[in-house]
Amino acid sequence: MFRVQDETQADWWEVEALYDLCFAPGREALSSYRLRDGIDPVAGMSLTARDPQEILAGAIRHWPVRVGGRPALLLGPVAVHPTHQGEGLGALLIQESLARGAELGWERVMLVGDRPYYARFGFDVLVGVTMPPPTNPQRVLGADLVPGAWEGVSGPVERWPVHRTPVELDG
Ligand SMILES: CC(C)(COP(=O)(O)OP(=O)(O)OC[C@H]1O[C@@H](n2cnc3c(N)ncnc32)[C@H](O)[C@@H]1OP(=O)(O)O)[C@@H](O)C(=O)NCCC(=O)NCCS
Repeated sequence: MFRVQDETQADWWEVEALYDLCFAPGREALSSYRLRDGIDPVAGMSLTARDPQEILAGAIRHWPVRVGGRPALLLGPVAVHPTHQGEGLGALLIQESLARGAELGWERVMLVGDRPYYARFGFDVLVGVTMPPPTNPQRVLGADLVPGAWEGVSGPVERWPVHRTPVELDG
């Protein structure tokens, strides 16, 4: 029913409009956006889903961040158009993009969101991983893309240093 594809440059503003529709006004004031400013989303992990009429039904992007000096994916924004919510599209976009992240060599993923939704994808509260206030610590969630990837990883979530690759950071 939906066609999932890599987001292209031509999709950018349509995806932004979908996020504006799905999130509360002022979404870009959230601290997670300060971790994204001036940094490109992770290549190969931004997806769009279109219905048979080519109308954008959902989208997901991921950004690179560092936690305790270790690379991590910051999942989001992810949004599904209100007319298509509850049809499994959010799950499809999350699972497909995280499978790609694992293939690309990413080991851990985090987000700021509702545990009751994200627990089904293996996310749980990240103890000791901090986002700038006023983020509720109970909404800072993480999942392993390889077993034990979050063990011993804690500290503030920091911006990705531009021009460095995950391999350089983990080495
Ligand atoms: C969150 C969102 C991406 C989920 O996409 P979706 O395609 O509707 O989700 P799915 O179809 O995969 O899953 C639907 C299930 O998730 C539940 N769910 C959706 N959002 C939830 C939330 N915030 N908390 C708890 N459960 C939630 C639904 O109640 C439904 O439950 P059911 O399976 O028991 O019926 C979508 O609702 C959305 O765009 N919301 C607005 C933007 C947003 O909040 N994005 C996430 C930011 S953290």
